[in-house]
Amino acid sequence: MASKATYSCQNCGNVTNQWAGKCGACNEWNTIIEERAEPIAVTGQKKASSRAQSSLELETFDGQDQIIARYDTGFGELDLVTGGGLVPGSAILVGGDPGIGKSTLLTQLAANVANKGQRVLYFSGEEATAQVRLRANRLGVKKAPVELAAETNLEAILATIRTGKAPSLCIIDSIQTLWTQTVEAAPGTVTQLRATTHALIRQAKKTNCCVVFVGHVTKDGAIAGPKVIEHMVDTVLYFEGERGAQFRILRAQKNRFGPTDEIGVFEMRESGLKEVTNPSALFLSNRNEKGPGTCVFAGIEGTRPVLVEIQALVAPSPFGTPRRAVIGWDTGRLNMLLAVLEARCGIVLGKHDVYLNIAGGIKINEPATDMAAAAALISAFTGNVLPDESVFFGEVSLSGGIRRVSHVDQRTREAEKLGFADCYLPANTSENTNVTIRCHPITHLSQIVKIIST
Ligand code: TYD
Ligand code: MG
Repeated sequence: MASKATYSCQNCGNVTNQWAGKCGACNEWNTIIEERAEPIAVTGQKKASSRAQSSLELETFDGQDQIIARYDTGFGELDLVTGGGLVPGSAILVGGDPGIGKSTLLTQLAANVANKGQRVLYFSGEEATAQVRLRANRLGVKKAPVELAAETNLEAILATIRTGKAPSLCIIDSIQTLWTQTVEAAPGTVTQLRATTHALIRQAKKTNCCVVFVGHVTKDGAIAGPKVIEHMVDTVLYFEGERGAQFRILRAQKNRFGPTDEIGVFEMRESGLKEVTNPSALFLSNRNEKGPGTCVFAGIEGTRPVLVEIQALVAPSPFGTPRRAVIGWDTGRLNMLLAVLEARCGIVLGKHDVYLNIAGGIKINEPATDMAAAAALISAFTGNVLPDESVFFGEVSLSGGIRRVSHVDQRTREAEKLGFADCYLPANTSENTNVTIRCHPITHLSQIVKIIST
């Protein structure tokens, strides 16, 4: 039976029955390609008809399950992000830009788990075994009993998993190189990605093996991005950071077995990734010049306080429409803040280019950043430096009022621990009782303008 051609977007997975230059769902250009979507015939699956006849055996919420302990990853940061280690039988997707360090992280993870006596399989679809060995050598984990193969065919991988002692961890680097002969589409297309991921997840659930998929984030539509399989896996982790900088941040986007707001911080060294247990000290380590336009923000990532530096630059615009560029923060929030500064504080930046950067390559999306970003902007605009050794946090409302935020105690304690003397925070916060850092309650953004201008 000839299958009908469908057209799917390699970025978001949207399926249409007509080709178009631009995807209607995600607005990306040139990402739609023709695919023949045949029903996925997973090998070893029983015929649908014989399944339909027998009724299901139903269970209760109260049933007894055999609980298998999580596997310790050997990285405190990775345990934190996954919610306490790898869950047997779960599927994890590790996404990130090419070259960010996904293979490095997973090679180290594989070695850590294998060294604890578990069977670990590593399937490399991108690199030859010699290259993987070279990396393992560089990372100093050559002796770890990881079983390695350079393979991209799904059926061969499944057959390998089924033979011998059941593996505890299986790493697929990367999912975009896998292909199965049961579907008629090129490797890396949405159809192949879904079929191969589905088959591997089924196998994992059956044998209590944890599978970790690597998924490259791609800007062009040549191969499908990890977004199209996010709904199938239990945990989605994104590895981010700037390639030039030494920090790497592992962030949980979805986690069926743990929290989603935790971050893991790593440092890329000559000999691989090293976990960073005190991120604030690292993020502020390059802060030596204290010119106008820089401000330290006391933030919270998951359960941990993280201090970061916010940098702003304001310059008269040579063009009619001024530029707004933001790295690590939300452009929408910057625009809101600029409007509030103009309407409520008389700081008019309508004819200025505005640049805002969160130092260290970390992305922040807490509303509590508002006041710190505003302080950096006011300082950049007026040319006055902020008070020495001070941190800022608080949400700015459209009226210019400062709203209360959570975890005041943790933020102030972390600032105190790192040697800061003053803290500008929302008024009426009662939690900060046992700190010696000087707290300056702020009710309106105009107070910040006054503090910086005088
Ligand atoms: P890699 O793990 O191959 O990235 P990905 O799998 O995400 O594409 O590593 C990327 C970069 O990390 C590479 O440019 C070199 C650097 N690197 C180090 O700095 N130290 C190391 O020990 C290793 C193995 C890699
Ligand atoms: Mg790689």
